[in-house]
Amino acid sequence: MDAEQLGKSRFLNLLFKPSGMVMESRLRRWLFDPRRTLRGADLKPEQVVLEVGCGTGFFTLLAAEMIGDDGHLIAMDPLSDFVKRVSEKVKDAGLKNVEVIRRDALNTRLASASVDVVLLFGVVPYPTIPLSRLLPEMHRVLRQEGTLAVWLYPVSFGVPTSILKSGLFTDLGKKDGVYRYGRG
Ligand SMILES: C[S@@+](CC[C@H](N)C(=O)[O-])C[C@H]1O[C@@H](n2cnc3c(N)ncnc32)[C@H](O)[C@@H]1O
Repeated sequence: MDAEQLGKSRFLNLLFKPSGMVMESRLRRWLFDPRRTLRGADLKPEQVVLEVGCGTGFFTLLAAEMIGDDGHLIAMDPLSDFVKRVSEKVKDAGLKNVEVIRRDALNTRLASASVDVVLLFGVVPYPTIPLSRLLPEMHRVLRQEGTLAVWLYPVSFGVPTSILKSGLFTDLGKKDGVYRYGRG
């Protein structure tokens, strides 16, 4: 869907906007150390990373730090309030390696084979991001050696099985609570 339409969707706003405060809360940071979770994605300097559904940026700044100044992080979300919030955080932190864009991850409009790592952290399964449409798009934007890193909370909801069943990705194991897949 066009990001403009999706961002205005009442369903999406009802589903995610109220949880913005929780996403940023100290309690969450205390309960789920984002640095530890990001370690599971095995990010490396100079990588191009796509963060799908960045929300209020719980993982964004740390991920940007991990890939360094020569890396490039694309933080994507259809909700303009979240995009604004993350853009402010990025600006305040003086980060130059982050691009925050308002877009539907089902139609990223990114170049094919342009991304090293896709982060799906806390974004699946949700009805606005059906795996049946998300996975082919992630497969398209990932480079041949690229990886898909998936953090699911509180339970896996059968997502790992669905990812493997799609036939688009191969299992690379689980580390620090993060499932990793190679582009098959
Ligand atoms: C539960 S929040 C998680 C946010 C963030 N990853 C975190 O863990 O704090 C899910 C996010 O996915 C975003 N989202 C929903 N549908 C989307 C879509 N089709 N494309 C991209 N992001 C989407 C929502 O706007 C929301 O910010």
